[in-house]
Amino acid sequence: TKLVGVLTAGGDTPGLNAALRGLGKAAIEEYGMQIIGFYEGYRGLMQNRTIRLDGSNLSGILTRGGTILGTSRDKPNNMPMGGQFLDMTDTMVENYKRHHLDVLVCIGGGGTHKSAAKLMKKGINVVTIPKTIDNDLYGTDHSIGFDTALGIATDAVDRLHSTAHSHHRIIVVEIMGHNTGWLALGSGIAGGADVILIPEIPYETSSVAEAILGRSRGGKRFSIVAVSEGAMNRKDAEEMKLAEEELAAAKKTANREKAEAHLLELRQAQASSTIRLASELEQLTGLESRVTILGYVQRGGTPSAYDRLLATRLGTAAADLINREQYGVMVASRGEGIEPVLLESIVGRRKTVPIDHPWVISARKIGTNLGD
Ligand code: F6P
Repeated sequence: TKLVGVLTAGGDTPGLNAALRGLGKAAIEEYGMQIIGFYEGYRGLMQNRTIRLDGSNLSGILTRGGTILGTSRDKPNNMPMGGQFLDMTDTMVENYKRHHLDVLVCIGGGGTHKSAAKLMKKGINVVTIPKTIDNDLYGTDHSIGFDTALGIATDAVDRLHSTAHSHHRIIVVEIMGHNTGWLALGSGIAGGADVILIPEIPYETSSVAEAILGRSRGGKRFSIVAVSEGAMNRKDAEEMKLAEEELAAAKKTANREKAEAHLLELRQAQASSTIRLASELEQLTGLESRVTILGYVQRGGTPSAYDRLLATRLGTAAADLINREQYGVMVASRGEGIEPVLLESIVGRRKTVPIDHPWVISARKIGTNLGD
């Protein structure tokens, strides 16, 4: 009998429970394996906090948001421990061995995959399942959670139309996505935003203002601006890039602290850039502006049908791989199928929106302003 460990790590997404259920049911019912869950991602693996997963707790969770195991962003080699950050990888490997596990399944995004690869280097078997609302995981076309978040953000953009229209306002809506624009671009197009700003295309505020004024001249006295949380105007983007290069160059020199402080300052300023943008647009257009930050509502609640299906397929595919003892891979969704992809080939890479992506091209063709 194979013994399987599983954890969910990183930001939660709708569909994690569906993945646990798909994996667990296939492992137990199809292959006669046993499965235990670790609580709160890598933290639970370090603390050896476990729960046996079986027919009773894997049942009734398909539609539930979040994760029954809980999650954390803690990293094995950098665990917050009483005010310090320590490398606890060896303790995690010991706990893996204590349970005589054959494999650890890590369900997560980019950070989780990096950590899984580190544990793998210490000699344990891993299989990973991709999830992120940001859709930025390299090597897979789809990740669990993106479709649900896309639906929620689209619904928000839809709803903002009637209020913006009634008050003749600009509404700037900030959408998650970390440093990529998939969620803002997808929901902006699907929700009919007039302007969509994403990190991959630095914007000029004047171009956005001009687009809004053009709409006003055409009799449309409201506008919806969908802005990705990572989007930057051209000047800030250039400054940020320079600061990052400076820090990379200063890595082992006396200038490191100064470079770090400078980058931190820019990142902090960036956190309020959506509010700044709205007030600049108000000044430039003379139209009243409001900001809506969607925030965590995008990660909450029940998964869409697509995410339930994807999670079930990825979970069962992970069980198939374990049965074949094919380890060191992520179960990737590619086209219509699911394929194993070597962990080494994806770790440290990020899937950003290509500036000639079909979504970008379509948005431009319907006259959406992308800020450039
Ligand atoms: O990766 C998912 C995500 O929701 C991003 O869109 C966002 O930038 C980040 O997590 C927020 O992180 P946290 O959950 O740690 O606040």
